[in-house]
Amino acid sequence: MMIQPWGKKMMGLVVGGILLTATSLAASDGIQIDQFISPDTCQGCHSEIFDQWETSLHHLSHKDPVYSRVAQFLRKGLTDAGEIDEAESCVKCHTPVGYVTGFPQKVSDDLSKTPEIATQGIQCDYCHSAVAIKQLHNNGLVLKPGQGEDDPGIKYGPFDDCEPDFHDAQYSQLHTSSKICGTCHNVKHVAFGTDLETTYTEWEASAYNSTDPAKKIECQGCHMYQRPGIPATGSTPRPENPGSATDYSDERPHIFTHYFVGGNAVVPGKFGGQAKHQMAIERLQNAATLSVDTSRINRKILKITVANTGAGHSIPTGVADLRQVWLEITIQDKAKKTLFQSGVLDANRELPKAAVIFRTVFGDGNGNAVINLAKARQVLKDNRIKANQRVTQTIDLPVVPGKDAVVTVRLLYRSMSQKVLNLLPGEPFEPFPVVVMAKAQCRI
Ligand code: HEC
Ligand code: HEC
Ligand code: HEC
Ligand code: HEC
Ligand code: HEC
Repeated sequence: MMIQPWGKKMMGLVVGGILLTATSLAASDGIQIDQFISPDTCQGCHSEIFDQWETSLHHLSHKDPVYSRVAQFLRKGLTDAGEIDEAESCVKCHTPVGYVTGFPQKVSDDLSKTPEIATQGIQCDYCHSAVAIKQLHNNGLVLKPGQGEDDPGIKYGPFDDCEPDFHDAQYSQLHTSSKICGTCHNVKHVAFGTDLETTYTEWEASAYNSTDPAKKIECQGCHMYQRPGIPATGSTPRPENPGSATDYSDERPHIFTHYFVGGNAVVPGKFGGQAKHQMAIERLQNAATLSVDTSRINRKILKITVANTGAGHSIPTGVADLRQVWLEITIQDKAKKTLFQSGVLDANRELPKAAVIFRTVFGDGNGNAVINLAKARQVLKDNRIKANQRVTQTIDLPVVPGKDAVVTVRLLYRSMSQKVLNLLPGEPFEPFPVVVMAKAQCRI
């Protein structure tokens, strides 16, 4: 439905400064589904923001076929109660409006009965009803939505001076802080407490979380400044985005964009988000740099340094057990004959064992690697590149390349390994694209 700008005006609560009492902070419990307002209604006035969000992974979090197939895969064949609890917990973040209002509670619920509004994933009225956080992991947002369209309540955001006609508005420090993102972008195993995703913690420990306000960059400072052609990373300009928050309100110096682009160049494209596919590539291409040191090549040693110059967290982050970031190394002699290679995908698009991959590997508690994160009782390995960090890899070569040989190194990214893709139930996905994050080449 479309709402016109002459919607009703709520009196009394417009000016900020409302003190939330302890009881109102506990509001997440007992919320009814019809308290939430559909994003289609918000679109009536905030059309540009809606268009940006529509093909984002936040909107797609419930419908994302990669997510749902991984969820089915993890759930299969489990018998341990703690492992089952974890495998059932996904809807908490991926279908949050449904979860907080009672259905679904588990991945194995009949998801075809999910209320339509909840299938719209992480949506406008979810984030803009947030008033506090109870924990910085596993979706610890405390919500205070209104009572549906007849009484939309307060929408919390970055402005302290707006008087919308449809809903009330209030400045919220929480919305300007990385913490609102951290409530979901930190995932802990519900039974074993293993850190499964740590994006917020990685950012918190980085120089971007500076005590100097001039140097501090919140998640929003990169991810809600990006727009086509402006990747807005730590190594590229992040200019303000002047514009209007609605189709009819006054211009402001900066309107936070709602594209929410990360490294995923696959899923938004499947839902008509071609521009987002390109924006993910632009983001990845401005995240890291590569350099090659051949000074010890006569002793069969090649040194490669990767620097995380653009991400406010590790590369890769998020589901870092699934994402693949790796070094592809090729050395060719004068006649273009290959003398050495590493990290080159084979005919089945799988990576050879010896490749240098930056990632997290989970273990079963006894030191054995597990693919199913429901079984993750420990972090076995984490060699990802932290924010602002440089990592130097020493590669032992089998031969001394002769004079004029050419060394080519590429830092590559794909959203998931082919090995895991092949394990997923159902029709096989098309191969995921490989994005070149950085490239370096030198002649010996
Ligand atoms: C994942 C949470 C999230 C979702 C989903 C979300 N927003 Fe926002 N929105 C924010 C945050 C955070 C800010 C403020 C950023 C800051 O101040 O650093 C914001 C800012 C805004 C603003 C103020 C103007 C601006 O953009 O700066 C409006 C209006 C707004 N959002 C409307 C919407 C609408 C409409 C939707 C759905 C189409 C939506 N939001 C979806 C988190 C979200
Ligand atoms: C009838 C038009 C209309 C509709 C429908 C509407 N808004 Fe707004 N909204 C506005 C106007 C006008 C502003 C003020 C813009 C400004 O001052 O720049 C605003 C401001 C906001 C802000 C900023 C609040 C602040 O203090 O920072 C948020 C957040 C927001 N809207 C969220 C939503 C959400 C979520 C929905 C859907 C549930 C929605 N709006 C539906 C007109 C509307
Ligand atoms: C200084 C800029 C910057 C800041 C601050 C920042 N990011 Fe990122 N983010 C990036 C870049 C660049 C990438 C692409 C490289 C990568 O995947 O790590 C990215 C990727 C991501 C991804 C996709 C991960 C993947 O590897 O597929 C997620 C999710 C994400 N960011 C969330 C966040 C959250 C949440 C915060 C705040 C806690 C945050 N980011 C802070 C720049 C930033
Ligand atoms: C309610 C939980 C929740 C909140 C709050 C939240 N996110 Fe997300 N976010 C998710 C989920 C779940 C996904 C992945 C959906 C999928 O891929 O199926 C995601 C995806 C993303 C991606 C895309 C990652 C990629 O691989 O391309 C970015 C970027 C991102 N979020 C940034 C943010 C930022 C910035 C904030 C704070 C303003 C935020 N998120 C708040 C749950 C949340
Ligand atoms: C605490 C919140 C939270 C919970 C619970 C959660 N996720 Fe996520 N999930 C996220 C966030 C945030 C991202 C985005 C990170 C990224 O893109 O790397 C994400 C991304 C994903 C992706 C990547 C999607 C893509 O298109 O590449 C998959 C797959 C996924 N989650 C599966 C699951 C499964 C299966 C479960 C349950 C076992 C689960 N998640 C539980 C927050 C959560």
